[in-house]
Amino acid sequence: MEGVTGSIPVPPTIRAVLFHHADMSERNDAPPDRTPSGQCAASGRIARRFRGRWRQGYVRGKLRHDPSFDAIAVALLDRSRTRPLLDLGCGMGLLGHWLRVRGWTGTYIGIDHDVRKLRAGRAAARGLTPALTLRTGSLLALPPALGSFRGHVVLLDVLHYLTRDAQSALLRRCALCLEDGDVLLLRGVLRDGSWRYGVTRAEEWLLASTGWMRSGPRHVPSAAELRGWLEELDLQVALRPLWGHTPFNSWLAVARRGIR
Ligand SMILES: C[S@@+](CC[C@H](N)C(=O)[O-])C[C@H]1O[C@@H](n2cnc3c(N)ncnc32)[C@H](O)[C@@H]1O
Repeated sequence: MEGVTGSIPVPPTIRAVLFHHADMSERNDAPPDRTPSGQCAASGRIARRFRGRWRQGYVRGKLRHDPSFDAIAVALLDRSRTRPLLDLGCGMGLLGHWLRVRGWTGTYIGIDHDVRKLRAGRAAARGLTPALTLRTGSLLALPPALGSFRGHVVLLDVLHYLTRDAQSALLRRCALCLEDGDVLLLRGVLRDGSWRYGVTRAEEWLLASTGWMRSGPRHVPSAAELRGWLEELDLQVALRPLWGHTPFNSWLAVARRGIR
């Protein structure tokens, strides 16, 4: 799947399908409201931290309709509220925003190479307590300062933008961060023969065509391939669909160290 460069305008209706998948001094001491209306209000509150109607609409839609943010929040909150988290390919740091709303207070470090998205995410996170750290960096060579990072790792819709070799190298690197009880949470598209996979390929083509993504997918792993890589790293893997009400072929892998 090759990316297509260039930029074309996207009508709002198409945007809503494409982009499924407060004030600045806000604190996070309100108890999280997990009812659908509470989740809806939280999406709106986070969206209003961003500048511009287009971006606000994108953030609101993404947080409302993509089940991955809350699935990851649940997985982390089940373990601890404070263990550090590395969000690789964090984009605007939406996961960090969502986790704060859900009452998670651990150190959040997001890494991405798209400075535009990072800038928007940092501006939106200004004043949040505890702060979110959004750093510029490439997943092909993580910043050396992260060598000592230990904690949970998230790869949310990013792995398929790397080549096959880069994916397995990154997963090896992620596994080094995990201590007992930590998890690698990987949400992404898997290659199979389903209609969902076809729709996801079409979406990716549009994302690259509109310039929202700097490049298109490089390699989409199959379930067996992903599971094989993780098991070779001595991780136990649970894999389940996570497409919610979207038409995309999104899966969640939760990988943790086996009992040593
Ligand atoms: C589909 S977006 C997902 C963003 C975020 N995880 C989310 O779900 O809101 C994929 C992100 O991966 C980033 N990305 C892709 N390849 C990368 C690389 N080699 N190094 C750093 N970031 C990368 C892109 O810039 C983009 O922000």
